[in-house]
Amino acid sequence: MSILVTGGAGFIGSALVRALVADGERVVTLDKLTYAGSLENLRAVAGRANHRFEAGDICDGELVRRLLAEERPRAIFHLAAESHVDRSIDRPMAFIETNVSGTAILLEAAHAYWRELDAAARGAFRFLMVSTDEVYGELGAEGLFREDDPYRPNSPYSASKAAADHLARAWGRTYGLPVLVTNCSNNYGPHQFPEKLIPLMVLNALDGKPLPVYGQGLQVRDWLHVDDHVAALRLVAAKGRVGETYLVGARNEWRNIDLVRRLCTELDRLHPIGAPHERLITFVADRPGHDARYAIDPGKIERELGFRPGVPFDDGLARTIAWYMAHRDWCEAVRPGAGRERLGLARAMP
Ligand SMILES: NC(=O)c1ccc[n+]([C@@H]2O[C@H](COP(=O)([O-])OP(=O)(O)OC[C@H]3O[C@@H](n4cnc5c(N)ncnc54)[C@H](O)[C@@H]3O)[C@@H](O)[C@H]2O)c1
Repeated sequence: MSILVTGGAGFIGSALVRALVADGERVVTLDKLTYAGSLENLRAVAGRANHRFEAGDICDGELVRRLLAEERPRAIFHLAAESHVDRSIDRPMAFIETNVSGTAILLEAAHAYWRELDAAARGAFRFLMVSTDEVYGELGAEGLFREDDPYRPNSPYSASKAAADHLARAWGRTYGLPVLVTNCSNNYGPHQFPEKLIPLMVLNALDGKPLPVYGQGLQVRDWLHVDDHVAALRLVAAKGRVGETYLVGARNEWRNIDLVRRLCTELDRLHPIGAPHERLITFVADRPGHDARYAIDPGKIERELGFRPGVPFDDGLARTIAWYMAHRDWCEAVRPGAGRERLGLARAMP
């Protein structure tokens, strides 16, 4: 039996697909190839007998049902999403369509497929809803997100992910579909689309362009290497308790400005240009509704499933920068027409 990964041509999905395929799993990737998805991310598995790529939309129920009937997966890792907060401010409806309606269509198809399985396969099946800590809203200077905290999403992106999480739990509770939900902190690593903080800063710095920091850069984010997120997802699907939620993080909080300075120091070492990269930092208008702080208590996944992040931040960050330096061709291939323009200023709003 196979594993279906939605959004498997994106940043985290492709890391998951590459890891599963390398371990000999049969994987089916379903991805619409939006601006954020690229077959460049799946080059490592292209032509592998145990991987099938299907270009398609999770909102296309007929396609999803056909894929499930053909591939008979034992698990679905649902990562397909519109994922960029700034874009959600400018064009929220695309987020509602994919993240909310698309998730409901996928759940409906998964449920119809699952209920026809024999008892053993039904018991073993897992639907993993891959979500974000942003559904919990923002923290002040103290405290950590925990699984039982109320949802208080603030951006159209986080609200759409919150809706998707609720739908997934409802399909679990109402229909018995074996659903698990993970909410992870900010990911970094190779293959991340260049609109996100770390690749944007690295690529701008390499080009000698300004490094745009929102507001005063005082927002705090909790960073996890994408390979550790992938390990957590596999762990939750294999050993997590059905119906449960697991928060995923590495206790690695950084103020944005400190992280950007840290990137600059690392770039001074890896890409010396005779002057500190920090001089490129510019402060720009803040994101409307920008959440002050996210931070995860990963105690539950650590205690129950033995999760331990394996990538030290120093090493992960240096390797990530080195990857972007060595893959300028990837950056050019994935970025045409998108990536480094300023979005999300809500200019149309009164
Ligand atoms: N990046 C993070 O820091 C982070 C943290 C926690 C959770 N997440 C969640 O993890 C998932 C993956 O995030 P990412 O950073 O890899 O995102 P990404 O934007 O890099 O990738 C999303 C992928 O989904 C595909 N997609 C979009 N709409 C689709 C549709 N309608 N049908 C099929 N495919 C579609 C895109 O083509 C793309 O390949 C998302 O659900 C996101 O909410 C991300």
